[in-house]
Amino acid sequence: MKGRQPTYPIHPLILSRTSPRQLSDQPVSREELLALFEAARWAPSFYNQQPWRFIYALKNTTTTTTPDKEEPYPKFYDLLWQLNRQWAYNTSALVVVVSHKWFHMKGDRSYRMANPTHSFDTGAACMALALEGAARDLVVHAMAGFDYDRAYELLGIDRENDQIDCMLAIAKRPPPELREEPRIAPRQPLESIAFEHTYDISKTNNTANVVIRMPTKH
Ligand SMILES: Cc1cc2nc3c(=O)[nH]c(=O)nc-3n(C[C@H](O)[C@H](O)[C@H](O)COP(=O)(O)O)c2cc1C
Repeated sequence: MKGRQPTYPIHPLILSRTSPRQLSDQPVSREELLALFEAARWAPSFYNQQPWRFIYALKNTTTTTTPDKEEPYPKFYDLLWQLNRQWAYNTSALVVVVSHKWFHMKGDRSYRMANPTHSFDTGAACMALALEGAARDLVVHAMAGFDYDRAYELLGIDRENDQIDCMLAIAKRPPPELREEPRIAPRQPLESIAFEHTYDISKTNNTANVVIRMPTKH
């Protein structure tokens, strides 16, 4: 992809995964959404604990389990910070990503210890989901810009057992001819993230280099 040049050749799918903010208002089908979760299922995890949980709401959808048949999607959308609402208004599905904090031995729920990699494994599952999305030319945009406390409350998640990690905005992309130039999020050079034998903190650079650019087409 233009502007995303790797130092070493890597699989094009990895470079094609981005976090676009320009979304189409065309709906993502339930089938497509479930296929993304299917990709996440196959991620690796510590002792195959599979601690990832995805709580989702499709726009314009209620289910028999929805209290009072009220549409849940707007409640998910309301969790977002204003910064994210500015570009995410056309999102087709919103997902709250949760990781289970306990390690259970052989299905025995009476034995448990803290799982040190619950978030790490769930991040891996999100990457599988995002790559599947990229392969299908869908937007999968992770967000930490939302009200975590209200999300715990809305979804009745008990902090003792589960942690809310992030949210995902999932949408169709506009047709190629209407797409703006992709936002290039620069990357740290290889020598500041990979160290042979010893860690040299002076080579790292933790300065944020995120440029938030909103789409101009509405
Ligand atoms: C956990 C996480 C939280 C993020 N939170 C936000 C967010 O709240 N709003 C936003 O616009 N982008 C958010 N991003 C997207 C990042 O800014 C983006 O991934 C980064 O700049 C790299 O760009 P790229 O994904 O296009 O390669 C988040 C990404 C991750 C992984």
